[in-house]
Amino acid sequence: MPAIVLVGAQWGDEGKGKATDLLGSSVDYVVKFNGGNNAGHTVVIEKDGKREKYALHLLPSGILSPNCVPVIGNGVVIDLSVLFEELDGLEARGVDTSKLLVSANAHVIPSYNRTIDKVTERFLGKRRIGTTGRGIGPTYADKMNRVGIRIQDLYDEGILRQKVEAALELKNQLLAKIYNTRGAEVDEVVEELLSYAARLAPMVADTSLVLSQALDRGETVLFEAGQATLLDVDHGTYPYVTSSNAVSAGACTGSGVPPTRIDSVIAILKAYTTRVGEGPFPTELHDDKGEFLRKTGAEYGTTTGRPRRCGWMDTVVGRYATRINGVTDFVITKLDVLTGLDKVPVCVAYDVGGVRHDEMPVNQTDFHHATPIYEELDGWWEDITDCRTFEDLPANAQAYVLRVEELIGARVSAIGVGPGRDEIIERFPLKPAVAG
Ligand code: GDP
Ligand code: IMO
Ligand code: MG
Repeated sequence: MPAIVLVGAQWGDEGKGKATDLLGSSVDYVVKFNGGNNAGHTVVIEKDGKREKYALHLLPSGILSPNCVPVIGNGVVIDLSVLFEELDGLEARGVDTSKLLVSANAHVIPSYNRTIDKVTERFLGKRRIGTTGRGIGPTYADKMNRVGIRIQDLYDEGILRQKVEAALELKNQLLAKIYNTRGAEVDEVVEELLSYAARLAPMVADTSLVLSQALDRGETVLFEAGQATLLDVDHGTYPYVTSSNAVSAGACTGSGVPPTRIDSVIAILKAYTTRVGEGPFPTELHDDKGEFLRKTGAEYGTTTGRPRRCGWMDTVVGRYATRINGVTDFVITKLDVLTGLDKVPVCVAYDVGGVRHDEMPVNQTDFHHATPIYEELDGWWEDITDCRTFEDLPANAQAYVLRVEELIGARVSAIGVGPGRDEIIERFPLKPAVAG
């Protein structure tokens, strides 16, 4: 009954898509349990000797594995226009999307929440979060305020209309009186949502039941997080976070599969750190080294195209991710990007006003003022993209991985040495042994 949760250890874009794709061939279900089309996962696949790149936002990366059932869980917020656009795009490229299941309890992102996301950011000015503008925050807020629209509402027009009316009563006041923008029309919103209902109908399911029955049959389920630990609404760098639970615990609430059924937690950790949007980032580099990481690692957002902020590996963050997620295995990605540096600094602790912090400071203000304490490891110059075993790596690259492993406190089971599907070193098996 293996149930595996895969999460991001930092601020997103660690390479979760590639890691999911790696496991995809050996799992039966891949479940997206949080977030929406704020995510951007790039998967590079070798097809007929050519490299093909897929950018997924709303669909779980497992959709690219032919034998895998992709599932969108109840914890996801769905922009239906994006869902069908993404499905059409994949089908046009010959990907079979017919197995997709969508939770009846997932919430939809109505068009007015995209508007509210964008105007709120404008209104916040200097205090903006730097959201992706996809309506994620307002839709989760509606869910908590109990004025959200769920997938199942599309199949009861009366209820749908009532819910849209209730939501717009307040929102249209906000849009007109505070934000000075045009409100939304109930009829237009209802009509748009209903236009998706028929095509969506065969995909709608009680996904909690489906997954639990799959686990009972001994099948393997992989839960793929969007975003990452430090972007989690409870455990991240609040308020500079997304609005969902991106940590491993979110896999349970976001899918209806209980914690007692989870066997392992894989965290994806980039060999350095990146962040998109606003918020504190102790190891951020504003010099040519930061530019080196951005250029060499092609650090531009898959979703918004924004240049990602770049900095050195922060093992305080890594250790925190181990604790909050209960990490059993790490995958370190993009080690190849660090090739060609004399010294590779690794942040081991913070200095906050003269006081050393080995753990994440509990107060956000301290985190904003944290100065990294670095250990300088020796770099390597050899091209590592063809390395396929740990021993193939140059001694200094091995030493880098081993030191990071020691600092983060959980084993490093795989190491990414390039974007391609096979450009990975599998040091220890990532899948738990199948019971029975
Ligand atoms: P995600 O959001 O966590 O799925 O990550 P993204 O797809 O947004 O960003 C990760 C980027 O790094 C993608 O362009 C991947 O193709 C690429 N990538 C993943 N693993 C590696 C690796 O080991 N080396 C290199 N050079 N690129 C990688
Ligand atoms: P993946 O799954 C990196 C960031 C945004 C912003 C904050 C809130 O590709 O790792 P939101 O639109 O969610 O309300 O924005 O969160 N953010 C991400 N950063 N990777 C992501 O997803 C992200 N999803 C949201 O940049 O700072
Ligand atoms: Mg991404």
